[in-house]
Amino acid sequence: MLDSPMPISHYESIESKALHVKEYAIACMNQLQGWCSQEKASILIDLALKIQPQVIVEIGVWGGKSLVPMACVLKANQKGIAYGIDPWSNEASIEEVIHPDNKSYWGQVDHEAVKLGLVHKIWDFGLQDTIELIQSTSEDAPLIYDIDILHIDGNHSEKTSYFDVMKWVPLVKKGGFIIFDDMTWYENGVFTTARAVEWLNENCMKFAEFSDIAIWGIWVKL
Ligand SMILES: C[S@@+](CC[C@H](N)C(=O)[O-])C[C@H]1O[C@@H](n2cnc3c(N)ncnc32)[C@H](O)[C@@H]1O
Repeated sequence: MLDSPMPISHYESIESKALHVKEYAIACMNQLQGWCSQEKASILIDLALKIQPQVIVEIGVWGGKSLVPMACVLKANQKGIAYGIDPWSNEASIEEVIHPDNKSYWGQVDHEAVKLGLVHKIWDFGLQDTIELIQSTSEDAPLIYDIDILHIDGNHSEKTSYFDVMKWVPLVKKGGFIIFDDMTWYENGVFTTARAVEWLNENCMKFAEFSDIAIWGIWVKL
């Protein structure tokens, strides 16, 4: 039998800590508005538990349903910061949007109320020192360097989604992870995020693809 560097009980306590963090993070996300599935949150949590990130950046936060689970891991790790970039503005949300139903939804929904709801929850969850919200478009947001995990889930138009990968992926650390949501977003005969996905495929190493309420993927920065 191989000598274990640590007693089994130590591994058990690490696993039970991870389980506890995950249960807490899922309980938090269930109180938030957004489109992140529990399966996706679970994978984001596992990734953050595994790589112990210092810097997480999310483009497109909405009610925090994908940002908060990752931030819960940072809090448990007692290190790292999760930046959430979102303009929370009807004008930005409908820019270049083609489909009338999408235009109508994003043109009317109360972005400010969703942002305020998230801010309250961040305090409720004790994440105020872990999450920094930046109310700005991806384009106008200040550069954030040495990103360990980048989650792109902002405006899904061809122009903006392509811009998002071009601006933010170069700021990810070598070996860092890029998560791109809605890889097959389809509006009036156009796969609007296809150009961004193609760029990711050409410039990063695709690691995984998932299908839940959307098709989304994970790439590694080369
Ligand atoms: C699909 S929602 C994000 C959902 C969230 N990540 C989740 O999993 O629940 C898209 C978000 O992108 C934001 N957004 C729109 N235009 C943007 C831009 N130019 N830069 C960054 N975010 C943008 C919207 O305000 C909206 O909150």
